[in-house]
Amino acid sequence: MMLMAPLQGFTEAEFRRAWSRHFTGIHQMVSPFIPLAEGTRFRQQHLRDVLPEANPGLTIIPQVLGNDAPKFLLLARRLQELGYATVNWNLGCPKPAVARKKRGSGLLPFPDLLRQLLDEIIPALPIALSIKTRLGYQRPEEFEKLTEVFNDYPLQNLVIHPRIGVQMYDGEMHLETLDAAIGKLKHDWIFSGDITDRESFLALRKRYPTASGWMLGRGVLANPFLAEQIKLTATPMPSQAHRHRLVSFYSDLMLELADKGRSPLSQLGKKKDYWWYFARWFTEADQIFHRLSHLNDPHAFDAEAGRILMQQPLTPFGPREVRG
Ligand SMILES: Cc1cc2nc3c(=O)[nH]c(=O)nc-3n(C[C@H](O)[C@H](O)[C@H](O)COP(=O)(O)O)c2cc1C
Repeated sequence: MMLMAPLQGFTEAEFRRAWSRHFTGIHQMVSPFIPLAEGTRFRQQHLRDVLPEANPGLTIIPQVLGNDAPKFLLLARRLQELGYATVNWNLGCPKPAVARKKRGSGLLPFPDLLRQLLDEIIPALPIALSIKTRLGYQRPEEFEKLTEVFNDYPLQNLVIHPRIGVQMYDGEMHLETLDAAIGKLKHDWIFSGDITDRESFLALRKRYPTASGWMLGRGVLANPFLAEQIKLTATPMPSQAHRHRLVSFYSDLMLELADKGRSPLSQLGKKKDYWWYFARWFTEADQIFHRLSHLNDPHAFDAEAGRILMQQPLTPFGPREVRG
């Protein structure tokens, strides 16, 4: 099973809708996290991204970030009303402002607190729980205790990104720690991290034959064909047909983004964010991103992006550097 990773700021409903109109190969999509609000009510705007009407034809698993059991349950009930059968809990977010409050991966060094929260949440949870985790916050060895905790509760599955919080999204994954841990894990588990091409996927699948699913994140932004390519037996050469699909997808995504009622300048910022990854569809990705990131007039930006989309040679399908 292939899943689309939650990438806050990138894989919200507009992207998911546009991507799924032009590409195939992904079965489920985990939404970027919905934060449990500071106050007593979670904000309705955060639910917008997971409303069924915003995700037509898509299989979405909504994700929640926070460490407050009553609020978690409140939100889970709301998700159940919307028709969801599973909620995913984010225990991976590495942002210091989040982790400092013992949320996301900041909860991982506190297995007793995690246990306490699960004791409160699980018996009252109306839908199934899936957890997305890292191996730890400060040290990958934290995962040993965490495995014991996870094993004591009924989880639908565990999505594992084998880095630790302080690494953010960079540096080597701790695969040796994962190797040692998965034999002890009682749950179905899904691998998330650094799948950038068919070869990296095949190498990981060989190493982890027990994984029940594979999550594609930055690799899909840098190459929207990734899930399709993984299914093929040979890597295709980039063709005019690929370019045509990329152009159609890009136009569709731009329409989706324009619909959100953002100002032209805020839209420009969003486009620049996407181009950090989209530049890698083409040769000379660094120069392309550099050039676009210095264009501050929305019309000039769109004209240059259009020129690149029509004329710049496509990158041969293969490994792409997608850190950051
Ligand atoms: C910009 C960005 C935003 C992310 N947002 C989320 C998020 O909202 N929830 C989550 O569980 N993981 C989030 N992640 C982590 C990804 O889901 C994924 O686990 C990680 O990027 C490793 O996979 P990849 O190398 O395939 O991207 C984010 C990662 C990035 C780079």
